Amino acid sequence: MNLSDLNKVALAMVTPGKGLLAADESSGTIKKRFDAIKVDSTEETRRDYREMLFRSSEAMSRYISAVILYDETIWQNARDGTPLVKLIEQSGAIPGIKVDEGTQPLAACPGELVTAGLDKLAERLTKYFERGARFAKWRAVIDIAENIPSMTAVHVNAHALARYAAACQAAQIVPIVEPEVLMDGDHDIDRCFEVTQRVLSKTFRELFVQRVALEGMILKPNMVVPGKKSGKQVSVEEVAEKTIKLLKRCVPAAVPGIAFLSGGQSDEEATAHLNAMNRIGGLPWPLTFSYGRALQAAPQKAWAGRPENVAAGQRAFTHRARMNALASRGEWANELEKKAA
Ligand code: 13P
Repeated sequence: MNLSDLNKVALAMVTPGKGLLAADESSGTIKKRFDAIKVDSTEETRRDYREMLFRSSEAMSRYISAVILYDETIWQNARDGTPLVKLIEQSGAIPGIKVDEGTQPLAACPGELVTAGLDKLAERLTKYFERGARFAKWRAVIDIAENIPSMTAVHVNAHALARYAAACQAAQIVPIVEPEVLMDGDHDIDRCFEVTQRVLSKTFRELFVQRVALEGMILKPNMVVPGKKSGKQVSVEEVAEKTIKLLKRCVPAAVPGIAFLSGGQSDEEATAHLNAMNRIGGLPWPLTFSYGRALQAAPQKAWAGRPENVAAGQRAFTHRARMNALASRGEWANELEKKAA
């Protein structure tokens, strides 16, 4: 492992004023997104859609530092035969790959999940590196409900994240460590704080035990928000303050950067929260975005599977990428959304 090179890639991923596009939806997830816009999910439509994003030259060159791909996409070529990975590289962004294989029920822990994908991971990483991937992603999923999460679920998911991260670094790939505490429940914001604190503390403990070099990784956490079914509204400032308080407690300063998931927040909420955190400032790590839904919902709607809508889809993507890029500097304002509408 060359830690200095890993650190350079990690820092480039969190370049101020840029963030990550999470375009790594599994075939099942992208089908759900396409169902919502009445588009058949085929290898070709998935390729066309993602090619549209990667050819958004302004967004890709100015606002996107890196793109997380799914296995199918990393091997696909654009319509003109150029590998999609090359399109991303030509725009100046770094290609990366989701390497987890989704979740499965955790034995003896009803209702809880553990992420799969450690088998043959080292071999897969070598092939992805040869294809151009310089970072990877693994998502652990922690749900909040009565008596959940168990200590067991927090432990095994942290352990698997650290196994994955160590394997990545051995293959000269920067791991994005993503322990996602879901916002689906009816819990309040303080319960989200408490559970995320447990999860992040345990995750960093496991990373230490398994000798992961913090300088060569990126953390992808959830923000501290109330559960969607709680019916509770909190202010943008409260989310920002609580998320920062939590990160300061749990994330060592040696970590090169933090890139949030959007997790089901609306597009503008995800942007406003990131912006408010960066306004507070004075933090040891850059805070940016690694959004899936909050970057892609608008372009998906504008595109709707029609070739004649490609330019409109690219405009919608560029707008959201720009808004989030501004938020990564604390320079976003609500009026900028209205002006573009
Ligand atoms: P969302 O921003 O839609 O939560 O997706 C980000 C991601 O990569 C989840 O693993």
